[in-house]
Amino acid sequence: MSSEKWNTLLNNTNRLTTPAMQKEILSAEECELFLDLIAKSTQQFAKEKKPYNGLKVFTKGVQDVSQNEPFIENPPQDNESLKEWSTRSFKGEPFGFIMNFLENYNNTIVEEMAKKVAPLIAELGYPFAGLSMLYFMGDYGYTPFGVHRGSAGEDGVLFHLGPATKTFYIWETDEYNRLTNHATSYKNVEEILHAATAYILEPGDAISFPDDMYHVANTEEFSVSLVLDYRRASQGKVKELIINELLQVNPDNDTLLNHIPPSELLQTLNFQNESEQAVKRLMSRLKSNGGFMKPSILSYSNLDLQGTYQLKKPFSLELLPLKKQQSTVFARGHEIIIENNKELLDFINLINTGAPINLATLNIGLQPETLGFDLFQFLMKVDETEILRKL
Ligand SMILES: [Fe+2]
Repeated sequence: MSSEKWNTLLNNTNRLTTPAMQKEILSAEECELFLDLIAKSTQQFAKEKKPYNGLKVFTKGVQDVSQNEPFIENPPQDNESLKEWSTRSFKGEPFGFIMNFLENYNNTIVEEMAKKVAPLIAELGYPFAGLSMLYFMGDYGYTPFGVHRGSAGEDGVLFHLGPATKTFYIWETDEYNRLTNHATSYKNVEEILHAATAYILEPGDAISFPDDMYHVANTEEFSVSLVLDYRRASQGKVKELIINELLQVNPDNDTLLNHIPPSELLQTLNFQNESEQAVKRLMSRLKSNGGFMKPSILSYSNLDLQGTYQLKKPFSLELLPLKKQQSTVFARGHEIIIENNKELLDFINLINTGAPINLATLNIGLQPETLGFDLFQFLMKVDETEILRKL
């Protein structure tokens, strides 16, 4: 994927602060791939049997919570497309379907999206609250809840996957407020449509607009859109994330505190320095996972000691010194604590270059309490995060 189209989108949206669309950001094959990965994520969602966890189903133009449980019992089958499955489920009745947090259900969709948006992230940097994905699907005409605006901080990029086209209408905020007398949302869409800017999305096109702009989509025929949320988050939320990291900086510090006046407390606790470490941890966690906050789903390692492995870019192993002889390594959002063993550090440097590594060339040992065994255990833990590809 060329970074050219991303640069055009970034320029046209003034770095995601004004609306714009970009034609053909995904190829037909990429649309098919994402449709398939969405179906797999949806299957996994159903398996986990938490029907209210970020799922919204709309029938007859309103949200219908009674549909959540039947959906869990009747998810897409293997090799059944989203279209086939929804025709079977909704029996031709118009419907809308929104599922949040796709990264919770499938590692591959995160891999593919992280690869896709790497040029965008390289320009914009990681959002402090991480990236997240959701999808819309249906043939419901106008968005069931009418003209609306998103939750604060949810800027993002919508990738239209098709198969049908979708029209997006966006209003200038002042104009929308004048027409609707400051309504929080507006159901008589057609009454104010004349004042909106229309964007016609064909499969493979993307649109981006700021969270605070009123908009509505029209989807006459069945189609699917994948949304990547770039979560800036509130200051309070980011503070919470940093505090969680701060608790892991210099853990088990059992040095007794002297009798000191409160004015010296923060300095004595080394708060400024440790807060900076906490920010580094947060950024390393995100970087190791392509910008996503949710760590990958762990799998059993099938490490082949004769095999050749390569890092799945843009993910990386992010190393941070922890204490004395230990470091923290982030891999796809997971934290692995290692002893500072030269074999491990060399491996991390080499794999991060993207070079394929044949494990037979490493000094892996299978005897516990040897340096080679530390390397073996580390490789197993890294492999479990699914950050490695076996060639
Ligand atoms: Fe929306």
